[in-house]
Amino acid sequence: MTADRPFFITTPIYYVNDAPHLGHAYTTVACDALARFMRLDGRRVKFLTGTDEHGQKVEQSARLAGISPQQFTDRISEAFRDMTRLLDISNDDFIRTTEQRHVRGVQALWQELERRGEIYLGRFAGWYSVRDEAFYDEGELVDGPNGRRAPSGAEVEWLEEENYFFRLSAWQDRLLAYYNANPDAVAPRSRRNEVVSFIKAGLRDLSISRTSFSWGIPVPGNLDHVIYVWLDALANYITAVGYPDSHSPEFSTFWPADIQVVGKDIVRFHAVYWPAFLMAAGLEPPRRVFAHGWWTVEGQKMSKSLNNFIPPKQLVDTYGLDPVRYFLLRELPFGSDGDFSHRAMVGRLNGDLANDFGNLAQRVLVMIGRNCDGCVPAPGELTDDDAALLDSARDLLAVVRGHMAEQAFHLALEAVWRVVGEANRYVDEQAPWVLSRKDPARMRTVLYALAEALRHLAILTQPFVPGAARKLLDQLAVPRRARHFNALADAPLAPGMRLPKPEAIFPRFVEAGAGS
Ligand code: MSP
Repeated sequence: MTADRPFFITTPIYYVNDAPHLGHAYTTVACDALARFMRLDGRRVKFLTGTDEHGQKVEQSARLAGISPQQFTDRISEAFRDMTRLLDISNDDFIRTTEQRHVRGVQALWQELERRGEIYLGRFAGWYSVRDEAFYDEGELVDGPNGRRAPSGAEVEWLEEENYFFRLSAWQDRLLAYYNANPDAVAPRSRRNEVVSFIKAGLRDLSISRTSFSWGIPVPGNLDHVIYVWLDALANYITAVGYPDSHSPEFSTFWPADIQVVGKDIVRFHAVYWPAFLMAAGLEPPRRVFAHGWWTVEGQKMSKSLNNFIPPKQLVDTYGLDPVRYFLLRELPFGSDGDFSHRAMVGRLNGDLANDFGNLAQRVLVMIGRNCDGCVPAPGELTDDDAALLDSARDLLAVVRGHMAEQAFHLALEAVWRVVGEANRYVDEQAPWVLSRKDPARMRTVLYALAEALRHLAILTQPFVPGAARKLLDQLAVPRRARHFNALADAPLAPGMRLPKPEAIFPRFVEAGAGS
């Protein structure tokens, strides 16, 4: 059984030069759903997120804002912390790269790499993009309107300076051997192939220090240099569990991470540089890096010039938190690109949530309120139809668990909604409103089966729509201690239990001005 194995999950740490937007919300919500799922499934979870606060870009943004980098990062980091509260994110830790625990850990990592002969001083001459905080080869550049640019479209500059280098070239074969032995260490498969081809094409040593600006962690023993922002940033995943104290209970419990979720744009850093740094320092690479796709908005790329970055607060104010979380996880296969549109969002909200799930819950609870004195009814003997519905509900955990193990959120939700659909068909076929006059005992059995199916659905949807699931569990009078996955089989609804007054869990979205 893996049930009690600890589970460590991370989001990327977000750059503080931009305010939070839909893209950041997406990564964070996906990790939250997985973290909540694992906790409910009995795992001891550490869920880490945070902010990436050093580098030239931040230094420049602070200067533009007319404040010091520290004041600037304090302000924007707080906006990311606010986002976690807004989205009901259950992170256990929030790390900032300007914190002392991190700075100390990064310097220790540097010294360890140096001690092992993995770092040398050399001269760097090449193309650098401040926006991407990345180095590019001549051959990777593309033609842009004003000269050559990075593949991401960012401007590049020719840079020549004395730099420390990490012996990345020496890790090529060991990285390939690692990915051969661990085919699931990068997902989805297309990203794994991309990573393997990149490594096979040949790795060059990586410049890991800069002298042209100062907003960074000083290189131990050479204060003219600051540590390259990606080496600094990636290390957050271990400094947050106590590195360099690698014998601490926290570190040995949680490292290596079970899953590190990132966007497709930063796979190379997480699946090439990061495992190489770790192995070079004598540490294990993460068990899995999952790269998700990118959202466009109403068919367009989010960009400064179009000014179409959607702040998470705007989404939540417009549609409500649970519908936003549901949409992000249901609309796309995790790993694929997709489009966020008002139309698609309202379609899911009014269709899957309000009509299918919300109505089902409302109908059943109102009927119990009216016809069973507001108490969980006592079932009689079950027919095949009743048993079929209950079996589908009981089989759901194993199905959802399988999909969550692959980060296939959309399939997990699809499976849950298949049972919602089945329950809706069952209500229509059994017509308990007719039974209430003709055969009240049979009506009680039907309503019990439905309430019990609802309990399964509510428990299983907690990771995705925690607010609505909580409301539904309250309405079913399921005690707090009986809301984890073990309770699915162990704690069926007790007949006679008094239920509170029903209340809609997913109100419909009504367009402003419509219906008046
Ligand atoms: N600071 C680095 C990560 C360092 S991790 C050691 C960084 N930060 S970021 O703020 O620019 O991006 C964070 C995440 O947001 C990335 O995973 C990125 O893919 C994601 N997204 C940014 N825009 C996005 C969309 N339009 N759609 C989906 N995700 C997007 O990179």
